[in-house]
Amino acid sequence: MATPTHASGIVLDRHQAVRWRESWAHVMGRFVPHLASLEETLCRATEAVRGRAPGRVLDLGGGPGLLAERMARRWTDAAVTLMDIDPVLLALARSALRGEVRALEGDLSVPDWVDRAGGGYDLVTVVMTLHYLPAPQVRAFYDDARRCLAAGGLLFVADLMPDEGLPSLMGALNPAPDEAAAEVAWAQWWNGIGKMDSLRPLLAQRAAIFESRLPIGFTAPASWHATAAREAGFGEAGVLWRCGRHAALAAVA
Ligand SMILES: C[S@@+](CC[C@H](N)C(=O)[O-])C[C@H]1O[C@@H](n2cnc3c(N)ncnc32)[C@H](O)[C@@H]1O
Repeated sequence: MATPTHASGIVLDRHQAVRWRESWAHVMGRFVPHLASLEETLCRATEAVRGRAPGRVLDLGGGPGLLAERMARRWTDAAVTLMDIDPVLLALARSALRGEVRALEGDLSVPDWVDRAGGGYDLVTVVMTLHYLPAPQVRAFYDDARRCLAAGGLLFVADLMPDEGLPSLMGALNPAPDEAAAEVAWAQWWNGIGKMDSLRPLLAQRAAIFESRLPIGFTAPASWHATAAREAGFGEAGVLWRCGRHAALAAVA
């Protein structure tokens, strides 16, 4: 039975939302090799830095909330918030997670997202999202993220950060994912969800949000990100995880 689950009155069936999130996980797994090991690294690093589980967690560009859900289930006493610009993905997160995770609308390219999210977070994550922003906004993002964090809190940025290491040998050890096939899977996922009648108003909102945004595809080496983090006032910043062109940087506030 369809259940009203969204503040805007949109009706979404929970089981359908769960299925769309499962296929989203499959698509993301085609883009990011060894996603599970990335997530395990970020969780273990957070526990090691704090000596205990985090109390407040924020996942930015969290999409339909898969990482947010896994963090909420690992750290059962933590208050986990996800923020995203996309109303369709937020509806999936809200429908499937039902209060387990707080899901907020917010645009990382406009600094007021910090006021919406609030402060005092022990952990802020942003996975495969910063490449949607141009370089100056990514630089500004590090300032904004630091304002969200409690002293000693951890920022974890995972994205394409190519060109460091020994490319030929790293490529042999970790064959690059088939990005063309991943793009096809991404397009098919959006094509499929685009046919859901109950999501039509949110799909229209989404189209309006993204039509004025040029595809950015920003990538910079991890050292660029580490410098931006230090310039924004983070103490330590460096790579904690790498697989081919994908890397994750941790920065301590
Ligand atoms: C490739 S998806 C990754 C989603 C999620 N982190 C994951 O790993 O499943 C990129 C996400 O960034 C979000 N996004 C793009 N531009 C954004 C912006 N300006 N502000 C907030 N979120 C944004 C998209 O809506 C999408 O959910």
